[in-house]
Amino acid sequence: MSRKKIVAGNWKMNQNLFEGKQLVTDILKRTAALELPENLEVVIAPPFTQLELAATQLKEVPGHFLAAQNCHQEASGAYTGEVSAGMLKSVGVAYVILGHSERRQYFGEDEALLSKKTDAALSQGLKVIFCVGEPLEIRDAGTQNDLVRRQIEGALFHLDAGQFGNIVIAYEPVWAIGTGRTATAAQAQDMHAYIRSLIAARYGTEVADLTPILYGGSAKPSNAPELFACPDVDGGLIGGASLNADDFEGIIKAAF
Ligand code: 13P
Repeated sequence: MSRKKIVAGNWKMNQNLFEGKQLVTDILKRTAALELPENLEVVIAPPFTQLELAATQLKEVPGHFLAAQNCHQEASGAYTGEVSAGMLKSVGVAYVILGHSERRQYFGEDEALLSKKTDAALSQGLKVIFCVGEPLEIRDAGTQNDLVRRQIEGALFHLDAGQFGNIVIAYEPVWAIGTGRTATAAQAQDMHAYIRSLIAARYGTEVADLTPILYGGSAKPSNAPELFACPDVDGGLIGGASLNADDFEGIIKAAF
């Protein structure tokens, strides 16, 4: 079995229902004209308000899956404004993004909470795209590996090997998100190889070899080919460029 490649578009808080419907239509038009490799998944992560409609658009389109950008850690209850993993599953969501740096920064999400959210998502049969990555001051201090190790150990390493098979890691250096400043291919490869070595030490090489590790942070059609050519980079988690169907298509093609 070879590991999957994934190109995922994280729309963040962008697109109303009508814009989002059109964007999914535009993306599907482009990907229909491509012959997607069998091991490549295209994942779209729109806002909650778009999920049900997008699910109907993506239904039965091979190789295309829907992701949510967050979920609550509890199954149900008095948590005004929140959405549970089971609710996401019920509308046809396959993945949930957890641990995004924007959730960590603006909503105070830490490893203890993210470990509960991960459990909630997996218990409902969702797969998790788990984001890790260091801010600039940590990169400048050269301690990025320690931080990423703590992020992964703290939120994920309580899982058993079977559960870990439903985890995708996304390395998103905070200094590269929305800044136009991409990690170099060497920086991405170094971190991805390090992450894979952590997984191998905890779960064995077979699990590590099958875990997709995505790069995120100012990825675009011009830099994606070099990043995706790295042996431990298995695709991307794309922000800004995923809102433009031509750019998203260009990045998908770079993952062939
Ligand atoms: P950008 O591609 O806009 O830098 O965002 C990356 C990201 O945060 C994806 O989750």
